Amino acid sequence: MIFDDFTIKTLIRPVNDFPKPGVVFRDITPLFQSPRALRMVIDSLIQRYVEADFSHVGAMDARGFLIGSILAYELNKPLVLFRKQGKLPADVLSQGYQTEYGEAFLEAHADSLCEGDKVLIVDDLIATGGTLLAAVQLIKRMGAGIHEAAAIIDLPELGGSRRLQDMGIPTYSLTAFA
Ligand code: PRP
Ligand code: ADE
Repeated sequence: MIFDDFTIKTLIRPVNDFPKPGVVFRDITPLFQSPRALRMVIDSLIQRYVEADFSHVGAMDARGFLIGSILAYELNKPLVLFRKQGKLPADVLSQGYQTEYGEAFLEAHADSLCEGDKVLIVDDLIATGGTLLAAVQLIKRMGAGIHEAAAIIDLPELGGSRRLQDMGIPTYSLTAFA
C-alpha cells in the first residue's frame, strides 16, 4: 500500500489547548480507528526497517507502545519498554526529562539492554524530543547504542528532531506539522 500523506494527516486531529492552554494536541486516535491507515503506517515503517541492522525495538510509554509492539512483532525483535516512573517492577534506571507540556521521569529495567545492543526507538510523536532523549540517555547508560528514532509525527517547530540529530541520533518521521 502506497503511503498517502494527505490521508494520514486528515486522521490526526488537532485539539486546541489540550492538555494546557497554547498547546495544539495532535490526536492519533482517529488514525488508529482506521485499519487501512494503521496498516499504511505500520507497513511504511516495516519497509524502512525490515533490512536494517538493529537488535531491539524500544517503545515509549504510552502511545509509543501502540506502534512499537506491532513493529517488534513484525520484525521479530525483542521489545524494551520505556515507562513513566513507578510502573516497572524490577530494578530500574531512571532519567528526568521535560516535554512540551510537562516534566517526568522515564524508566527502563536495568537489565533490559547490554553493551553492543542497538535499539530502534519508537514513539508516536516528536515534539521537544525530551522523551526520546531521555530514552537515549537510558540506553547509553546500559552501554547500548541507538539505530534511529522513529515516529509517526514530527513537530519540527518544537525542535526535537533537530536536538536528536545534533546528538548524533538519526530521526525518521512519516509526516510533519509545521
Ligand atoms: C507524548 C508523546 C511523546 C511525547 C513527545 O507523550 O506520546 O511520547 O509526548 O513529546 P516530547 O518530544 O516533547 O518529549 P505523553 O508524555 O503525553 O504521554 P502518553 O503517551 O502517555 O500520552
Ligand atoms: N506530545 C508532546 N506534544 C504533543 C502534541 N502537541 N500533541 C500530541 N502529543 C504531544
